[in-house]
Amino acid sequence: MIYSRITGTGGYLPDKVLTNYDLEKIVDTSDQWIRERTGIRERHIAADGQNTVDLAEQAARRALQAAGRDPQDIDLIIVATTTPDRVFPSTACLLQKRLDRHGCAAFDLQAVCTGFVYALGVADKFVRTGSARCALVVGSETLSRVLDWKDRSTCVLFGDGAGAVVLEASEEPGILSSHLHADGAYEHLLSVPGGVSQGYDSFKDGKGFVTMKGNEVFKVAVNTLGRIVDETLEANALDKSDIDWLIPHQANIRIIQATAKKLKMPMDRVVVTVGEHGNTSSASVPLALDVAVRDGRIKAGETLLMEAFGGGFTWGSVLLKF
Ligand code: ACO
Repeated sequence: MIYSRITGTGGYLPDKVLTNYDLEKIVDTSDQWIRERTGIRERHIAADGQNTVDLAEQAARRALQAAGRDPQDIDLIIVATTTPDRVFPSTACLLQKRLDRHGCAAFDLQAVCTGFVYALGVADKFVRTGSARCALVVGSETLSRVLDWKDRSTCVLFGDGAGAVVLEASEEPGILSSHLHADGAYEHLLSVPGGVSQGYDSFKDGKGFVTMKGNEVFKVAVNTLGRIVDETLEANALDKSDIDWLIPHQANIRIIQATAKKLKMPMDRVVVTVGEHGNTSSASVPLALDVAVRDGRIKAGETLLMEAFGGGFTWGSVLLKF
């Protein structure tokens, strides 16, 4: 039996930090409102000219270094992103060029905030079926570029960043299961309405920016993430107490706390980075993983539950032995 195992993690955050106090000068908001409603204190913002592939490259190189791997060892690259640098080629191909790796499969995957969980689930299937032995799986976003900086209901929530893992074939488990879902019936609750097939005029009048019915998203997210926790535990015949670490998508501390409560998990077993990162969409789970691996909290052999929820709606989980 072939499993896939994470052998290295990496993360990258742009230098520029935008605090809630900085935002008070841009829109009618307050540090107190943002912290109480979301748990966010600050977020990182990509510099002018710094694009999604630039963030992805930094995170990827750090993950490769942690795994003791060279770019030439990679035989699959998946980049989860909602903010690709170009219509085409894919950001994965741009990253492949940066890494001077030629010939292996490379593609982008778009599942908004669930993108990394989807990408990890897909890469796991490539590895288990023998189609890849060493995959580079990245979540990278420059969400700041699709925010309306006059809209206080969205611009305070998001940040830029990238996270990456190297996923290798192994006889030892690894990824135990992945559970991926979507329901496009909810597309209207969280969306960037413009798009290239509608013509470039479709980006005008604010339609190139994130629009969100935050309250409704919140309710569906809490219920859905509760269900995916049950589904994941049942599929593996595990008990809540078998999970060592919860690594949730970092959208809102209240959503994270609700999922932790569902798992009866104390918050000191939950990796929380939303305060410093904001919601970095597909980068949030691998960034949180990397933080907790590098600071020594997550140790080899522990059982991790990753979960995410995002536009689409999409949602999913990955259960793994680290
Ligand atoms: N500062 C101050 N006041 C604000 C701000 C702000 N930044 N934004 C909204 N308000 C006001 C509203 O105008 C409203 O005022 P009113 O009562 O006078 O009309 C009031 O605050 C309450 O607004 P709500 O939207 O009801 O506030 P809520 O408690 O729902 O919090 C929030 C809003 C934080 C967006 C919450 O709904 C949420 O987190 N939703 C989930 C969003 C999310 O996670 N999205 C991403 C998931 S998917 C992905 O990651 C892409």
